[in-house]
Amino acid sequence: MSVIILGIESSCDETSASVVKDGYVISNYIANQTIHEKYGGVVPELASRAHQQNIIPVVDIALKEAGIELNQISAIAFTRGPGLLGALLVGTSFAKGLALSLDIPIIDVNHLQAHILVHFIKKDTPDFQMPKFPMLCLLVSGGHTQLVVIEDFLKMEIIGQTIDDAAGEAFDKCAKILGLGYPGGPIVDKLAQAGDPTAFKFAKPRVDGLDFSFSGLKTSFLYFLRDRLQEDPNFIENNKESLCASLQKVIIDILIEKTKKAIKQTSVKSFGIAGGVSANSGLRKAAHALGKELKLDVYTPELSLTTDNAAMVAIAGYYKFLNNEFADHSLAPLARMPF
Ligand code: KG4
Ligand code: ZN
Repeated sequence: MSVIILGIESSCDETSASVVKDGYVISNYIANQTIHEKYGGVVPELASRAHQQNIIPVVDIALKEAGIELNQISAIAFTRGPGLLGALLVGTSFAKGLALSLDIPIIDVNHLQAHILVHFIKKDTPDFQMPKFPMLCLLVSGGHTQLVVIEDFLKMEIIGQTIDDAAGEAFDKCAKILGLGYPGGPIVDKLAQAGDPTAFKFAKPRVDGLDFSFSGLKTSFLYFLRDRLQEDPNFIENNKESLCASLQKVIIDILIEKTKKAIKQTSVKSFGIAGGVSANSGLRKAAHALGKELKLDVYTPELSLTTDNAAMVAIAGYYKFLNNEFADHSLAPLARMPF
């Protein structure tokens, strides 16, 4: 009999539902919350309210797109954390209520593990192959920057992480300084394509081992602009593309340098990137170049699977289902959640 998992994601500002059948994604519907744009960042209270409004229609669309009836679902997987507590409560409560009414199990999913597990979604293409274990994954999102060794689907270990801001935050905060919209990452990526990445130099932080730091970059970017604006009030406007390209270059250099070190220190057989920042065109190119240099298979997720989505939650739920890992209905969401 087929294993059909309904996945629910509501950890931040995307309400999403997905159906995964036997490890294949058959629907993945995402409702973005545009309300936060005018505030320049996610407003937790507004996110919870929007999830509450969106959740039923989003699940309905995901099921219809998949051509799946409620009584065919084997289990419901939901993001337990980490994330905004009020936002997580919406998905968790919804999953519990629906599962209870259908008399099927629930599966709690760690959002970060879910980002990584997009690499293990099965595909019906002739060239498809699963990454070999152990795999190293650079997980780069708005809230996290981590180097993770994946020994098996559900066995992962963090070997390096940011000691302050995440890479996505660096993109977003610097984009804000430039007066670009929110989230800034995709805007910087687009503008960078028309700029010169060697135009401006920003210092890389010195951090021991495999850890990262991005808060100093944001400050030096701010001071650099403040000085240049004193000489030329139109400095940002006149150099927007090259500022974005130079900023993107230094962020990618920091990420790739540590990733290379991690690959050399571990005996991984494959390497991948995941999370919202893995949508970045420069990072994707740099990851492939690194794989070529180190003669390692490289995996970059489809763009729709980089930022928050429920397919990643459903695939994580699928592997937990196969492992008989179910959650109790007394379980509560967690704003901070270890692996
Ligand atoms: O994984 P995600 O959707 O949410 C979190 O779990 O945080 O990641 C969102 C982050 C934001 O910081 C956003 O600016 C960044 O991913 N991002 C990008 C790109 N697309 C999204 N950063 C750089 N280049 C992009 N193309
Ligand atoms: Zn995420």
